[in-house]
Amino acid sequence: MLSDNLLKNLNDQVNFEFYSSYTYLAMAAYAESVDLSGTANFFRVQAQEELFHAMKLYDYIFQKNGVVELDKIDKPESKYESIIDVFETGYKHEQLVTSRIYKLADIASEEKEHATISLLRWFIDEQVEEENTFNTLLKKIKRAEDNPAALYMLDEELATRVFTPPTTA
Ligand code: FEO
Repeated sequence: MLSDNLLKNLNDQVNFEFYSSYTYLAMAAYAESVDLSGTANFFRVQAQEELFHAMKLYDYIFQKNGVVELDKIDKPESKYESIIDVFETGYKHEQLVTSRIYKLADIASEEKEHATISLLRWFIDEQVEEENTFNTLLKKIKRAEDNPAALYMLDEELATRVFTPPTTA
């Protein structure tokens, strides 16, 4: 049984994961518009990952006899100055997600809600990967900024990303 406070915060996070998916889809659209189709692929896959996160929380709420309450999803940012701006925004977004997950974990810990603590441990580990992915790509993209050949190669690399549901889910 989830407390009202924990249930509300988990529902908010379901919404935020859907918003994250929408945000990355908008980034994919931007990348497509500047002819970086590999980068667009990377963000499309990222959008799928975020849907997976949303549904993991969604399923958990029902497993705990709670009710999912879906809300409207905010309009994502779609205007970017450059592809570097996109990755910088993505990196900041992941840092924000991490802080939200930490807040949820704090609430679950205060309530000694061990099942939720266990669930959130998965998300905490996932966030280490998410932040690292964006930070690494941001550094690469900055290095490739004034080098079209390097940018092309990076775009080719990002074209190979495919969505694979996390095995530890
Ligand atoms: Fe669902 Fe990228 O955090």
